[in-house]
Amino acid sequence: MRHVLLWMARSRFLKRWLPRIWFVRRATRRFMPGETMEEALDAAEAFRERGIGILFTHLGENLADLSQAQAVADHYRDLLDKIAARGLDAEISVKPTQLGLDLDRAATLTHLANLARQAAEGNRLLWLDMEGSAYTDATLDLYRSLKESQPNVGICLQAYLRRTPADVHALLPLKPAIRLVKGAYDEHASVAFRRKGEVSAAFQSLCVLMLPYAARGELRLGLGTHDTALIERVAEYAAGAGMGKEAFEVEMLYGIRADQQLRLAGEGYRVLTLIAYGEAWYPWYMRRLAERPANVWFALRQVFG
Ligand code: FDA
Repeated sequence: MRHVLLWMARSRFLKRWLPRIWFVRRATRRFMPGETMEEALDAAEAFRERGIGILFTHLGENLADLSQAQAVADHYRDLLDKIAARGLDAEISVKPTQLGLDLDRAATLTHLANLARQAAEGNRLLWLDMEGSAYTDATLDLYRSLKESQPNVGICLQAYLRRTPADVHALLPLKPAIRLVKGAYDEHASVAFRRKGEVSAAFQSLCVLMLPYAARGELRLGLGTHDTALIERVAEYAAGAGMGKEAFEVEMLYGIRADQQLRLAGEGYRVLTLIAYGEAWYPWYMRRLAERPANVWFALRQVFG
């Protein structure tokens, strides 16, 4: 089921036609508050009193032409202005291919540097999402280039990739901000662990590797996972090694395990909810279904209910 859903996420035909069907759009509401920036900003307000921070992502990836990248950059600039105007505890997270990485690396870097500068004015980070493994090297290169002039940038790394421990070691001297996730794409066994247990074990050992740096303030570490058992194991390890709850933060998606987000925030962990919005939700939404095929039945109930 997971592979079929990930194949559907890549299908150009389905990407073109499925989002036009209104009841398919309705089913996405579980994971996104709406398609517009205002709907996303309004949804973020509710998290303020719960002490939960926000990451915003305007959905989109793999542009057909470079002029679209300028529109995406303008959108994020407007978003940063509105975050500041509302005084939200929020940062933004972008996909490099949404800013033209497939088409022009230099232009992508310029857009990212401009956004990072604007984010820095509000004391916020600009995060780079990590896409399929064909983009790992290019995304890491972008991150290193950005870091030369902008300290306030973070990057997502995927625990399922066999290369990630080496990437972490290479990034540590830069005092990076790293969001560790399990990984959402359909990768070949030669580059990625494919069994759940292996991925969780890789995630945990990467945390063990990074936590001492985080505890010394040389790394901002985000655990981008809804796997609360895994978070508990990492928390136990950190506490056993004498580290405080501020050594790492927990990042989860809007609409997933909201009760656990509240619980962790109540227990004193820094929690961030990622709110994704926008019209180009199709591949992103399909990856969410693939993560938990039970979601397909939920979606079908929405469609027919
Ligand atoms: P796992 O899939 O094992 O789920 C643990 C439990 O969480 C499940 O049993 C279920 O209860 C719940 N759960 C998880 N996913 C769910 C879903 N879709 N619907 C309902 N319940 C669900 N990936 C990537 O490749 N590049 C990226 O840049 C990012 N960015 C990112 C940011 C943030 C803040 C998060 C939380 C995740 C990402 N991801 C990502 C996605 C990530 O790689 C991974 O696919 C998902 O987080 C699902 O894996 P879990 O770690 O949650 O564990």
